[in-house]
Amino acid sequence: MNYPIYLLPVLLLAGLSATASPALHKNGSATQLMVDEKPFLVRGGELGNSTASNLDYLGQYWSRFKELHLNTVLAPVYWDRMEPVEGTYDFSLVDGLIRDARKHGIKLVLLWFGTWKNSMSCYAPEWVKKDTDRFPRCRDRNGNALEILAPFHEEGAKADAKAFAALMRHIREIDEAEQTVIMVQPENEIGMIQHARCYSDTANQLYSSEVPQILMDYLFANRDNLEPKLLRDWSAQGCPGNGTWREVFGDSPHAEEVFMAFHFARYTDRVASAGKAEYELPMFVNAALIRPGYQPGQYVGAGPLPHLIDIWKAAAPSIDFISPDIYFPDFVRWTREYARSDNPLFIPEALRNNDASVNALYAFAEHAAIGFNPFGIESITGQAKTLLSQSYGIIEQLEPLIIQAQAKGTIRGLLRESERQLQPLQFRMDGIEINVAFEYALPPSLADGVINEAGDRSSAERLPAGGLVIQTGDKEFLFAGMGLTVTFQSLEPGTKIGIVEAEEGTFTDGQWKNTLWLNGDQTHQGRHIRLVPGMFSIQRVKLYSY
Ligand code: DGJ
Repeated sequence: MNYPIYLLPVLLLAGLSATASPALHKNGSATQLMVDEKPFLVRGGELGNSTASNLDYLGQYWSRFKELHLNTVLAPVYWDRMEPVEGTYDFSLVDGLIRDARKHGIKLVLLWFGTWKNSMSCYAPEWVKKDTDRFPRCRDRNGNALEILAPFHEEGAKADAKAFAALMRHIREIDEAEQTVIMVQPENEIGMIQHARCYSDTANQLYSSEVPQILMDYLFANRDNLEPKLLRDWSAQGCPGNGTWREVFGDSPHAEEVFMAFHFARYTDRVASAGKAEYELPMFVNAALIRPGYQPGQYVGAGPLPHLIDIWKAAAPSIDFISPDIYFPDFVRWTREYARSDNPLFIPEALRNNDASVNALYAFAEHAAIGFNPFGIESITGQAKTLLSQSYGIIEQLEPLIIQAQAKGTIRGLLRESERQLQPLQFRMDGIEINVAFEYALPPSLADGVINEAGDRSSAERLPAGGLVIQTGDKEFLFAGMGLTVTFQSLEPGTKIGIVEAEEGTFTDGQWKNTLWLNGDQTHQGRHIRLVPGMFSIQRVKLYSY
């Protein structure tokens, strides 16, 4: 558009004052989420699936979110509610959600419950569900239809992409200036269940056709960095440059899963790219993880799982990263699988138990996570709520330090690999060997003012142990967490490490405020640092060598 010359200064000023939309940004060794042009850590929680369908019902929970120190809520947008009649959109739920989130100073990550939700197509509108000719279903081996829209057909992808584009256009119109919505997840836990692949006629025919060139090109271009399982299957076939899925990846359930993943990812890319063309926010997909020992067909297969990351990257370039929904206890393992230099860690769903509090600290610290979100956050109560609120409160206090240390790589997460790990965690920082022992605790057996005369122990779950450490200077560290006993060893022969001073305190607006100088019994007379079990705290420690 051509503007008259006299408007130039006004346009320049408008351009200068416009804030860039939320985006991912490489900062040193971390990929960070920029919101209002500043790095932002998502201290969030995901709503239960139906909670955002009635804003009055949701209304009762905003104060709980503030108590929890949440800065973000992950909330679904339902295709069936938004487009009940084809081409007619009802944005009232999205509008209300954005209005209420703003009122409470909370950001939103929207989850597009479109064609797939936990593999099923339960959120497709009636006009999609009932028109099975236009929107064909996946079929099992016996030819029976499943309530899973098949990803191979043009009409489904077109309809979903059109609706999602309309949603993103609407969000841009009402929110580009305020940036309440900071990321979007197209679809939810996409995947195939019951069999490794679909057995419809179209699926059978595609499975016997050539692997699309886009995937072959990716395999050759990334040959040295392919995920091992994929590389093994392709290599076992002699790394062919073309052929059917069976010829390229072998005759196995894994090859069938790869085939499905490619088609799910292509479809999702259609949806995501149509949305980004309207409003370019960071977009990610989430995965239901695999139960130990489960085979393709038993778990929700073909989704954005670590062993399929190359397929998702090749087929869905509009997706910025893939992310895990971690409900299993081996949190350390799953975060490691997803945190890669080309894939920032974001945990859209996590179990809302006591461990969520320490897992959050660990993820932000060990893997420079963008965010952490227990699922069903409105329902969190009791000990899990108290602990998460303490842990998120600490992350809020430390946010500038964490962001800086993520970029510099001067931060570590402190968590046990598994229940079976009895050895202390051991690593090096600033030329010092740091040993961390974990001390778990039961909640106090004395309830408020009530004497437990039987003297028996609390039957509640034991409290977790974990946290983080940031190097803040030469031989200076900051620890946050609970249930940690930390000792230090010099790496120089004949030299020992001692504690100059240790203190407990808090940060207010970035300013440290001492609560206690810790010495004597609290440091075992200078031998260790201890963050007591059962309650989160922050400690600063200055070390020296002698
Ligand atoms: C994972 C899904 O992504 C969520 O929407 C929800 O269904 C939870 N599972 C339930 O635990």
